[in-house]
Amino acid sequence: MELSAQPEPCVLLTGMGGVLGAGLARGRRADGPRVIVAGRFRPLAWQDAQFVEVDLRVPGSMRRLIEQLQPQAVLHAAAVAHIDRCEQDPELAYRLHAGVIEEGVAALAVIGGRWITISTDQVFDGQADRYAEQAQPNPIHTYGRSKAEGEEVSLAGGGIVMRLPLLLGPAVLGRPDRMGADQILVTAARRGDVWELFEDEWRVPVNASDLAAPLGALLDPVRSPQAEGVYHLASADAIDRYTLGERACLLADIPFPHQRARLADWSGPPRPPRLVLSCERARRELGYLAPDLRQSLAQSAAAALAQVYGQEI
Ligand SMILES: NC(=O)c1ccc[n+]([C@@H]2O[C@H](COP(=O)([O-])OP(=O)(O)OC[C@H]3O[C@@H](n4cnc5c(N)ncnc54)[C@H](OP(=O)(O)O)[C@@H]3O)[C@@H](O)[C@H]2O)c1
Repeated sequence: MELSAQPEPCVLLTGMGGVLGAGLARGRRADGPRVIVAGRFRPLAWQDAQFVEVDLRVPGSMRRLIEQLQPQAVLHAAAVAHIDRCEQDPELAYRLHAGVIEEGVAALAVIGGRWITISTDQVFDGQADRYAEQAQPNPIHTYGRSKAEGEEVSLAGGGIVMRLPLLLGPAVLGRPDRMGADQILVTAARRGDVWELFEDEWRVPVNASDLAAPLGALLDPVRSPQAEGVYHLASADAIDRYTLGERACLLADIPFPHQRARLADWSGPPRPPRLVLSCERARRELGYLAPDLRQSLAQSAAAALAQVYGQEI
């Protein structure tokens, strides 16, 4: 890890190499605080930010980062954001989703900074009609359990937890294997794959770029001095996985090849059927207006199309 002295105030971001990071880079304000991105590789979308190389699997790595950079706020998004991979390697899931947070929260408390954990709707079991911010997590797989443990550690240390739903968005620059849920289905359709999509699995997906404003506000304690506890950022509308694919292909102007499936026929790790997050606290305290899903899907499709023509939007 190579570091230079950091006299000016800064915010530290982890996990910016995926769909969330690309969306936050697209939507961020030019006048925001100085950003330092930490990870194993420099994300192309964050070329203009300072980069610090770190592998967060290494015990003590987050504590050392905070001691050396002295950030005013940390947004921890680095994760194994895959249900199957977490089942295969629970130790890694708990390290990234909880162990890193334990280190970070303790180190940040010494300098009085603000900690924000990016969490997921997957901490819920999917049996309720909708979940308020105060709802009790009841995870049903390792990804959800490790994320729920990270939430507890964050909250116990005075940190903020931001739960996100399924993310939409175009392929990540330089990482074409990483893209939002809508574009994964479009890409499969373009390849000629036929997938089975659940018509009874409901989500409230958002465009990752729509999260830049509320997360930016949280990263600046001057703009959101009272923020604490758990927040949700999600779309105003719920959609099932099959219809999501259908709409995404329609917007991409390609035939929709995928087939209907029911969760009862699924034999992999358990999947929560209905994850509808209500965003009441985020609306009240962060001014978050849950975006219209049709508009979000159209924006994601437009950004994906612009990539094809070599323009960033
Ligand atoms: N995608 C979704 O639909 C979704 C939904 C709800 C919540 N979330 C949450 O949003 C956050 C970001 O998700 P995403 O889908 O954008 O991420 P992603 O594509 O899965 O990428 C994960 C990020 O974590 C980093 N990371 C993984 N292992 C690391 C390590 N050992 N050291 C340092 N960094 C490491 C990755 O860096 P490399 O580039 O080095 O691999 C990458 O930047 C996660 O916390 C996830 O739980 C995502």
